[in-house]
Amino acid sequence: MADLEREKRTTMNSETAEPMAAHLYRVRRKQRETGDTVSLEIEPVNGMGIRPFRPGQFNMLYAFGVGEVPISISGDPAAPERLVHTVRAVGTVTEAICTLGGGDTLGVRGPFGTCWPVEEAAGRDVVVVAGGIGLAPLRPALYKIRSAKDKYGGAAVLYGARSPEEIVYRRELEEWRTGNDLDVLITVDRASKEWGGRVGVVTTLISEVSFDPPNTVAMICGPEAMMRFTVLELQKRGVTEDNIYISMERNMKCGVGLCGHCQLGPFFVCKDGPVLRYDVIKPFFGKREI
Ligand SMILES: Cc1cc2nc3c(=O)[nH]c(=O)nc-3n(C[C@H](O)[C@H](O)[C@H](O)COP(=O)(O)OP(=O)(O)OC[C@H]3O[C@@H](n4cnc5c(N)ncnc54)[C@H](O)[C@@H]3O)c2cc1C
Ligand code: FES
Repeated sequence: MADLEREKRTTMNSETAEPMAAHLYRVRRKQRETGDTVSLEIEPVNGMGIRPFRPGQFNMLYAFGVGEVPISISGDPAAPERLVHTVRAVGTVTEAICTLGGGDTLGVRGPFGTCWPVEEAAGRDVVVVAGGIGLAPLRPALYKIRSAKDKYGGAAVLYGARSPEEIVYRRELEEWRTGNDLDVLITVDRASKEWGGRVGVVTTLISEVSFDPPNTVAMICGPEAMMRFTVLELQKRGVTEDNIYISMERNMKCGVGLCGHCQLGPFFVCKDGPVLRYDVIKPFFGKREI
């Protein structure tokens, strides 16, 4: 990574004055997205501590007495006072967070990590490819792009879910599509009887949208296998590696580059990522540990 690029993309933790201090937040609103996934809108209990964030950054959420996990911020960066996270219950901590209700409290540290290149992509086509809950960290970028649509060429969102029941933000995606705000295409791996849409993996959507490959920035988030095949398809269309960005997930503890839990070769995913340019992370991509 060029020094400047690295510096620019890794200085964001310094925005957080006391990175290890958790702030007390309470649940203001809870929205069920799918059977195992909820969005929680939270607010600081003392009314203080509302911090701006950049699309792609994450917070460490602490369920009291249970534990702390990294969760991307999924709300609108233009309204940081409505801090939203979308959480899928996969284990002890995420299950505890998903059972919180209105008025319940949790600890929040952050925001941490690098962001999607939303500003850098201005004047170009943008292709956003998401799998499952991978749409959550991309949603803030989509809010920003949508609010400044005329700054971009085309803006496409290609989304794949395992089944229609597992589509997150379904109503919002439909609004963006019908409002011609963004070019939204959705596919599912397994259709139900009521599903009249596309069936197949998300990479099949790439050939369905028009964009100018040398002048396109791609942002991808989902399971690593999905990201790998998506990168290959985009490269086949002519998008260059330095214009492809992915968001990596690794086990995290401190979130600020101190503990080494998230280390991947020379990178700390919590600090140098989670959003990384593909040409930079390529040698380590697909490897659990180095
Ligand atoms: C930067 C970053 C951003 C993230 N953003 C989000 C987000 O926006 N929303 C969200 O729901 N999660 C997100 N995650 C994943 C989330 O942190 C994990 O799901 C969480 O740490 C699991 O903790 P747990 O104690 O609930 O489960 P554990 O008890 O640690 O794990 C339970 C089981 O689930 C498996 N597992 C763990 N993580 C996942 C996963 N992501 N998908 C499927 N199986 C898994 C484990 O291998 C294990 O078998 C993010 C992770 C990172 C690193
Ligand atoms: S989580 Fe501690 S170094 Fe990244």
